[in-house]
Amino acid sequence: TKKISIAIDGPASAGKSTVAKLLAKKLNYVYVDTGAMYRVITYATLKNNINPSDEKAIVKLLETIEIGFQSNDDAPQTVLMNGEDVTEVIREDLVTNNVSQVSAHEQVRKILVARQQEIGRNGGVVMDGRDIGTAVMPNAELKIFLVASVEERAERRYKENLAKGMDVDFEKLKQEIADRDHKDMTRDVSPLIQAEDAKLIDTTGMSIEKVVNTIESYLVI
Ligand code: C5P
Repeated sequence: TKKISIAIDGPASAGKSTVAKLLAKKLNYVYVDTGAMYRVITYATLKNNINPSDEKAIVKLLETIEIGFQSNDDAPQTVLMNGEDVTEVIREDLVTNNVSQVSAHEQVRKILVARQQEIGRNGGVVMDGRDIGTAVMPNAELKIFLVASVEERAERRYKENLAKGMDVDFEKLKQEIADRDHKDMTRDVSPLIQAEDAKLIDTTGMSIEKVVNTIESYLVI
């Protein structure tokens, strides 16, 4: 059977990566976490004391950065920055709270979108992000737009953080998610928006399994 391209977009913590990863595994496709790519350049920006508003400096830096992924069976994918394991540091609050500013730069997006398109060129990918169905893979055979209430998304993130032993304030978390979504939806360059031909799934109150099954039901044409 032909290997297609699947685009999964949606706001923060809507379950995109969990679902995309499961789906990729079932189909024997490659999973591409584009958010991790924006997180890597944000981490590098902060580490090099570059101001997140300095597009030119970030672009120059990005040209020296190779982003790699390593799949692990059940554990989360390993994310590499020039060979260094940055899987965990790119999820830290400082990165999370600056990533929308870094990813809003047109030239930063241009470079990363080109890299993402290269990875997806031959199909057989499940790619998740904010602009996959609209900008990265506008011709994807299947496009999904995953949403969930901000309350539930904050709750999922809250539980994840607790499980990691992190001290978290639920209201603060909720505010940060809402702020990030607002920035991602209102930026000038390829803002977060549902592609016209994307299927909308509201995962509020839905199990992960149910979401994956729903997406699979769209595959049978
Ligand atoms: O998916 P994740 O929450 O890790 O994405 C982190 C951030 O990266 C998003 O909030 C957004 O600012 C940016 N992003 C983007 N386009 C994508 C994927 C992520 O702008 N395709």
